[in-house]
Amino acid sequence: MKQLRIGMIGYKFMGKAHSNAYRALPMFFPGALQPEMAVLCGRNGEAAREAADRLGWPEVATEWKEVVARDDIDLIDINAPSDTHKEIALAAAKAGKHIFCEKPLALSLQDAREMLAAAEAAGVTHMVGFNYRFSPAVKLAKKLVESGRLGQIYHFRAWFLQDWILDPEFPLVWRLQKDVAGSGSHGDLGAHLIDLAHYLAGDIREVIGMSETFIKERPLAENMTGLSAKSSKDAPKGPVTVDDATLFLARFENGALGSFEATRFAAGHRSTNAFEINGSLGSVKFDFERMNELEVYFTSDDEDVQGFRRVLATDPAHAYSEAWWPPGHTLGFEHTFTHEMLELTSAIREGRQPEPNFRDGVKCQAVLEAVERSVDERRWVEISEM
Ligand SMILES: NC(=O)c1ccc[n+]([C@@H]2O[C@H](COP(=O)([O-])OP(=O)(O)OC[C@H]3O[C@@H](n4cnc5c(N)ncnc54)[C@H](O)[C@@H]3O)[C@@H](O)[C@H]2O)c1
Repeated sequence: MKQLRIGMIGYKFMGKAHSNAYRALPMFFPGALQPEMAVLCGRNGEAAREAADRLGWPEVATEWKEVVARDDIDLIDINAPSDTHKEIALAAAKAGKHIFCEKPLALSLQDAREMLAAAEAAGVTHMVGFNYRFSPAVKLAKKLVESGRLGQIYHFRAWFLQDWILDPEFPLVWRLQKDVAGSGSHGDLGAHLIDLAHYLAGDIREVIGMSETFIKERPLAENMTGLSAKSSKDAPKGPVTVDDATLFLARFENGALGSFEATRFAAGHRSTNAFEINGSLGSVKFDFERMNELEVYFTSDDEDVQGFRRVLATDPAHAYSEAWWPPGHTLGFEHTFTHEMLELTSAIREGRQPEPNFRDGVKCQAVLEAVERSVDERRWVEISEM
């Protein structure tokens, strides 16, 4: 197969994570189809050049349309804010490029469906960035569910708690603006939980939710990156147009019950991304802040030693572990992206769609939007209505 040359749009939080993943692939997964980091795109040429030098990209562009139009680029990696995803993805599909797009896939279900249709019509590979699927401990949870070792699933319970905007003076970054981000904690954090629910517990049938914006106005931001930003003293204020917290209940197609909580106002929780699954034969518990561990409980254990036990998912029996370090030498956030890019390049080499792909992005968007409708209309909403 010919070289897989990448054009990456955006270079801050996720751009750094993706660059690191591309660079780690040949070192740790030498048998994989290796991407070639070709061109990094950012609107400010000087800042983009500095980032390119630091992250390992030989070339820089300031217009994403130029990158998409180039004959020597095979894959477009979109990690600019969510309002850019649709336009870039549609252009990339039209130009016959493979597409990796960060989550949430789009600002709306309608847009997400258009992106999926365009990618499918063009016959290109498409992937969406739900990286938490790629933690070895999450893969272990998936294995336990799929092999039936947890029995019938009764409960999927998930919460993603952060506190980075607790201070009312924290600036109005793009993540707090509906026209750029789509939604707040819901589309940012809740989207990851919904994808994990689909992955681990199956399709969701109906939802009912509640949400709140605790701080209605914030000082305008001067500069921002990832989850940090500055504003000048006495800066004028602008309205926060997204949710600060969204909670919802769900019923799954298989009869399981789900509860979900996403908030940026959980003081003391920097990034607690956690779930529990309770089945007829046992349970699992996961918390990303302790991402190498899965707590497991089996009803088949002898009565006198029953209880949750901690499995460190770093043995050769666990996903990806042999490529990294000896057992007990743990992995971090960045490894999820290396595994994600391994799935992307493997799928391209094998001529299949990676998982999760735009179909999963659309499914997630349907649940996000059903919850929003349920909040607006104060009722249960079926996903099939969307
Ligand atoms: N998978 C995850 O865990 C995860 C984590 C954080 C963010 N995200 C998603 O990744 C995307 C980016 O988030 P981030 O935190 O990296 O944002 P960021 O603010 O750190 O970086 C955004 C980048 O996009 C660039 N950009 C903005 N508009 C552009 C345009 N029109 N053309 C070219 N470049 C443009 C900015 O200059 C910057 O380099 C969002 O969709 C977000 O939801 C995913």
